[in-house]
Amino acid sequence: MCGIVGYNGKEKAIEKIVTGLEALEYRGYDSAGIAYFEKDTIQILKKKGRISALKEILPKKDAQVGIGHTRWATHGEPSERNAHPHRCGKFTLVHNGIIENYLELKNILQENGYSFLSETDTEVAVALLDYLYEEEKGVLKTLEKAMKMLRGSYAFGILFEDTPDTIYAMRHSSPLIVAEKEGEEFIASDVPAILSYTQEYYLLDDFDIAILKPNKISFYHDGKEITKEKLTFEGSLESSQKEGYEHFMLKEIHEQPRVIKDTIEYYFDGTKNSLFQNLPDLKKYQKFHIVACGSAYHTGLVAKSWIEEIVHLPVDCEIASEYRYKQVFYDSNTLVIVISQSGETADTLASLRKAKKDGIDTLAIVNVIGSSIAREADQVLYIKAGCEIAVATTKAYSAQLALLSLLTLKLALIHETIREDEFLEIRKQIETLPQQMEKLIANPQYQKIASTIYERDDIFYLGRKLDYAISMEGALKLKEISYINCVAYPAGELKHGTISLVEQKTPVIGILTVSEIQEKTISNLKETAARGAYLILISNEEIKEGNELILLPNIHPLLEPILAIIPLQLLAYEIAKLRGCDIDKPRNLAKSVTVE
Ligand code: AGP
Ligand code: GLU
Repeated sequence: MCGIVGYNGKEKAIEKIVTGLEALEYRGYDSAGIAYFEKDTIQILKKKGRISALKEILPKKDAQVGIGHTRWATHGEPSERNAHPHRCGKFTLVHNGIIENYLELKNILQENGYSFLSETDTEVAVALLDYLYEEEKGVLKTLEKAMKMLRGSYAFGILFEDTPDTIYAMRHSSPLIVAEKEGEEFIASDVPAILSYTQEYYLLDDFDIAILKPNKISFYHDGKEITKEKLTFEGSLESSQKEGYEHFMLKEIHEQPRVIKDTIEYYFDGTKNSLFQNLPDLKKYQKFHIVACGSAYHTGLVAKSWIEEIVHLPVDCEIASEYRYKQVFYDSNTLVIVISQSGETADTLASLRKAKKDGIDTLAIVNVIGSSIAREADQVLYIKAGCEIAVATTKAYSAQLALLSLLTLKLALIHETIREDEFLEIRKQIETLPQQMEKLIANPQYQKIASTIYERDDIFYLGRKLDYAISMEGALKLKEISYINCVAYPAGELKHGTISLVEQKTPVIGILTVSEIQEKTISNLKETAARGAYLILISNEEIKEGNELILLPNIHPLLEPILAIIPLQLLAYEIAKLRGCDIDKPRNLAKSVTVE
């Protein structure tokens, strides 16, 4: 799930692999390791914890060929023993993903005399290669045979002791790219690892194998050599650097006005016509299923509220890990919309495949160009967020909202559920949106509020309807980066049990942007205040209740969530900072979740 970097070139393989792994550090990991050729033998070094710990044990003399890894433990605790690379016989391997049938394979291998040093599924894969090599003899044939036997997700970087000038790579359901520049060759699990050398790369498809020899990269699929198209990364190296900000998360929060503008302008030039030309034909759909994970799911909840309230069409919004296994009810008038920043989230991808297998139309909203979800969906709409580094998403979340608001607007025009004057008003407000966002980002209140509540162990987020959907994202942001246990609740539901947790000074953050339901939510907030809660209100009206009020501009409901999320992101950021947390790389989390 985290990082793979391999280098085959003239010099400084270790240095370049480590630099590449550092560029992927944002993806979250718990140990790091490297394997390199020293003459004809493969040396392996690994360390639990950060890459900086690995750096302390690296040799002075560099190498020309090697592979490196940052591990996000799935099978076995984070430890040096379980860290990658793993070796068996002449094969040494690094792995992102999960081998689902590893126990079955382990049994077969154990019966054939293999024993294992780690608890990982990865060590089983490398032992399988060794076992198959005895029969197949050639490395390529061995890899092809292994592909037929391994189930689950994998991106592998592989060294073989008899070919010290070669790196082998293969993938299934876990991203892996290959790149070259003036005699230097790379494999990597994500583009930032190679950006300081080149912006061009090849993307491996499922069941592709790549062999990187000096000045020659060959690709194979299904036993045949194939040619692959070179892709160009659209972002820049700067987009993957902090540019003076203390954290990537803060930089990305500040980028939001531009990202929203870019995303909206890409599809909408202010005319209805542009919406009809640039967005998919949605006329035939009477029902929508929105499927996603985490924050992307939260944008789906906002869209559900929008489409139901404004267009009056039913929307089911589901968590992908549930959707993929449940009985779903859809037909030819249903559009399944999957949302994913990375485009690689395993459960979202599986949900997309399920809908496609059932012959249902699919639309993907994705950030990473050329990612698996983008390639497999019937139609794809890209948000224009650029490279997002912080594990906690901010700019991709709001760009997804911006795109979903345009889809809702188009649906509302198709079904004639908004008036002409309303359309014109939204159009006018879209123009002022980036400026409004900037003002909210510059609001000085967040630090002060954070300093009042950062030591608390529980924080509640309350809202109704659209405000509840926004609360969910606010609570997730804070949980992820500050490790405070926070819960988002529909405001009216708290008194059915959870209010028992409210104590003196428990912070309760109330989101109040939906005017028709505002008084009801205020009553619920007052119920918590009566039990000692410290009330922080985020509203587009001057409410005279509570301890703190963060005032939002008054704007159409289709745009309000894009503004309302900003105080929640910045509050989470300031609280995590005061708690001394590792904001960009929160513990236990990975940026792209390519396993179930
Ligand atoms: C967001 O801050 C989280 N890191 C996480 O919930 C994320 O949104 C989720 O894993 C989905 O990722 P995706 O958008 O890449 O599919
Ligand atoms: N499943 C493997 C392990 O637990 C690989 C994890 C990863 O993707 O980093 O070692």
